[in-house]
Formats: sequence, structure tokens, C-alpha cells
Amino acid sequence: MTILLIGGSPLTPSRSTRLLHHAGERLTLLGHRTHRLQVRDLPAEALLHADFTNAELARAVSLVADASALVIATPVYKAAYSGVLKAFLDMLPQDGLHDKVVLPLATGGSQSHMLALDYALRPVLSALGARHVLASIYATDAQVQWSEQDGLSIEPGIARRLQDGVDALSTGLLARREFSEPEAVPLD
Ligand SMILES: Cc1cc2nc3c(=O)[nH]c(=O)nc-3n(C[C@H](O)[C@H](O)[C@H](O)COP(=O)(O)O)c2cc1C
Repeated sequence: MTILLIGGSPLTPSRSTRLLHHAGERLTLLGHRTHRLQVRDLPAEALLHADFTNAELARAVSLVADASALVIATPVYKAAYSGVLKAFLDMLPQDGLHDKVVLPLATGGSQSHMLALDYALRPVLSALGARHVLASIYATDAQVQWSEQDGLSIEPGIARRLQDGVDALSTGLLARREFSEPEAVPLD
């Protein structure tokens, strides 16, 4: 059971990606296997032209298919999630998130669009068949700081919400593993 960390910012360095990787490190500490996918690293022209024959895009789509859960991070752009993230989600099959657990994260310049994940991204995840979309986590730029000297600094309230989200994702996956793994039957 792997967890795919999808970064949806077209820019680097990226606050939302830092939050994403922080969540990924927590999940690793809880014993989960994670993979990373940065949408900005995919071939731009193929993505823009929705070229389903492109091998690199096909590999990225199969990373989604192979994952049991996703953490998706995006900056807020114009009151919604980023266009590059949408371009990638458009490449998934109609039931591309079937049965998956998803934790959505976003950073934005202010509190004005703190509901963007819920009104813009959540319906798309549901349309793609996600089984369980966990409570979204939104942080403003001021709440996620980074410096060469001190590394990542997350405002305590956001850090707590992030930890709760990670724990909920982990618990959901572990429960699913117990549910799906049949009990060993002793042989005579
Ligand atoms: C093109 C563009 C559009 C943006 N639109 C919004 C917006 O509508 N609302 C908002 O709160 N922040 C907006 N921002 C600010 C970013 O969401 C914010 O700085 C975010 O943390 C950037 O994330 P990143 O570092 O992962 O790219 C915008 C930034 C850019 C570059």
C-alpha cells in the first residue's frame, strides 16, 4: 500500500510542496511507503495537449493507479487550485481515484480563499471516485515559513491540523489493510 504525494505548484521553491513533504515525512515515520510526484516536472507540452500517448504522463498516471492513498497539495490560484494540477487530473481515467483515500492541502496568500479546496477540488476528487476525502488543510503564506537557517516553520495550529490529517490518513489505510487481508486459515 503506497501513498502518493502530488505537488501541484508550478513554482519552486513552493510552500505547498514543503507542507506536502512534511506530511510525507510524518507518514514515513508511521511506517507508510510514500512516492512523490511533482506535476511541474511532467512534460509541459504533452500535459497541455492532453497527450495520452506520452510515456512519461502514462507513468505518472500509473503511479496514481498504484497508490492506495494520495496527499494532494496545491497553491490557491485565482480562488481555486492550480491549473497545472487540473491539467494532470484531467489525464486520469473517469474512475481514476476509485476507492482511494485523499488528503487535500493548500497554501494561499490570505484567508480569503480558505474554502477553495472544498468548493473547487473536492467535487473533482469525488467525480473521480475517491472513496474518502479527508478534511482539507489550508494555510496562509504567513503560517508556513522557511529559511535556510531554521528550515520549515509551521504555525502550531496548522501543524496540529496537519498531524491530525496524517493520522486520519494512516488510520484509514491501516483499517483498510486489516479489512482486505484475509485471516490465515490453519492447515490440518
Ligand atoms: C498566479 C497566482 C495567483 C494567486 N491567486 C491567489 C488567490 O486567488 N488567493 C490567494 O489567497 N492567494 C493567491 N496566490 C498566492 C499563492 O496561493 C500563495 O503564495 C501560495 O502559498 C503559493 O504556493 P506555492 O509556493 O506552493 O506555489 C496566487 C499566487 C499566484 C502566483
